[in-house]
Amino acid sequence: MSGIGRLVTFEGIDGSGKSTQIALLAETLRARGHAVVVTREPGGSPGAEEIRKLVLEGDPDRWSAETEILLFTATRRDHLERTILPALAAGKIVLSDRFADSTRMYQGLSRGDLRGLVDRLHDLMIGREPDLTILIDMEPATGLARAKARQTSEERFEDFGQPLQEQMRKGFLDLAAQFPDRFRVIDGDQPIDEVAEDVAGVVLAELP
Ligand code: ADP
Ligand code: TYD
Repeated sequence: MSGIGRLVTFEGIDGSGKSTQIALLAETLRARGHAVVVTREPGGSPGAEEIRKLVLEGDPDRWSAETEILLFTATRRDHLERTILPALAAGKIVLSDRFADSTRMYQGLSRGDLRGLVDRLHDLMIGREPDLTILIDMEPATGLARAKARQTSEERFEDFGQPLQEQMRKGFLDLAAQFPDRFRVIDGDQPIDEVAEDVAGVVLAELP
């Protein structure tokens, strides 16, 4: 990596510690003089944050699988245009809490095999992969308990319960094996500071 902007994404099941680790990594990188933008999906731009409510709140069966793929792709396109690409062009490191791999998993796997459709839409509308993806891997029961303890209204996916989280964990590990060049798998079943050390280790190794 050099000073020309890098997209680093964090993936993993709900409650795996992505936002906690992104905040800690941002501090570490800023202390070393890097310009960092912290963002998230679905969301990360004003328009995408509005669509976020539509996909994360309400009845689990609110959208068909196909409509949901379109909505998540729409949020990503806006996020990319308004937030990610301008930051990368300015030479910043963008840390995104979830990106296209989440759609490959949550929409591509959970309601039948729609991975092909997800990938085709991605190629048409997004066309960019992260430079580095940190997968925080952990026990689904622990992740779900942590996520549920947050008590927010954004529980549409958590409401699908532990079987979905089990499926997502396996799917993410398979995806990491499919794209070994950009994926690094971190053990999330450790105290926060130990996970942070592992994350900083792999990210700093990729920076000049
Ligand atoms: P995510 O963004 O992946 O959903 P969060 O970072 O929001 O996960 O973490 C979910 C909850 O679990 C938060 O309350 C957070 O403080 C807690 N948490 C995060 N990492 C750990 C860890 N390694 N050990 C114990 N609790 C953690
Ligand atoms: P997030 O806010 O990261 O939740 P958590 O902190 O619990 O991990 O993401 C909210 C939910 O959105 C999460 O359950 C996964 C789902 N999601 C998709 O289904 N598809 C996507 O493309 C993205 C980005 C998220």
